[in-house]
Amino acid sequence: MAGTPVIGGIRACVFDAYGTLFDFTAAAAACQDELGGQVKPLAALWRDKQLQYTWLRALQQRHADFWQVTGDALDYALDTLDLASPALRERLMSLYLDLATFPEVPAVLSELKSRGFVTAILSNGTPPMLAAAVRSAGLDDLLDAVLSVEEVGAYKPHPSVYQLAVDRLGIAAGAISFQSSNAWDAYAASAFGMRVVWCNRYGQRPERLPGKPDAVVSSLAELPALLA
Ligand code: LAC
Repeated sequence: MAGTPVIGGIRACVFDAYGTLFDFTAAAAACQDELGGQVKPLAALWRDKQLQYTWLRALQQRHADFWQVTGDALDYALDTLDLASPALRERLMSLYLDLATFPEVPAVLSELKSRGFVTAILSNGTPPMLAAAVRSAGLDDLLDAVLSVEEVGAYKPHPSVYQLAVDRLGIAAGAISFQSSNAWDAYAASAFGMRVVWCNRYGQRPERLPGKPDAVVSSLAELPALLA
């Protein structure tokens, strides 16, 4: 029930980065002058390929970091849409380091911290990508830890990624509330043993995968009221 704490015993709030705290569509949107009507198709294809490449490389056991994968996915997307240009590529990649947060994010992190929750990011992003995004969004003081999958050399949803948060925060999975707008990430964190709030910003249907989010919200603004 909205407004009623439903998830008890939580000590830490751990957030996915891209799509959850940072709006990955902002890079393409900022290039509206060059992309015109291709803003949405480019943002969607870039994101889809970026995630596919993480999973495909994982299956091949040929890991490359998220900066490379993000660039490779962008090259594919620009090529597919007949937009390939070195200058546009550089502009979009540079904007990816400077993504806007969703509007509610700073106030939510601030409230959670003031209530004593440990706050952290757990993301596929490389440490430099995450540091740049956190700094440009002014979130440095609102996060206790910024954890990159590069520490374990595996992408989500490998269980070692969720274990990294447990190990680095020193907090049991069951006392961590994990927030992601990526349904597959939310389900995987739940299957791992975390409590999970799926921030279903994009109105997606439930996944048919192991795990089950404890709550579903449409904005992180609903999160603080769910936690006890
Ligand atoms: C991340 C991607 C999955 O930040 O959004 O890990």
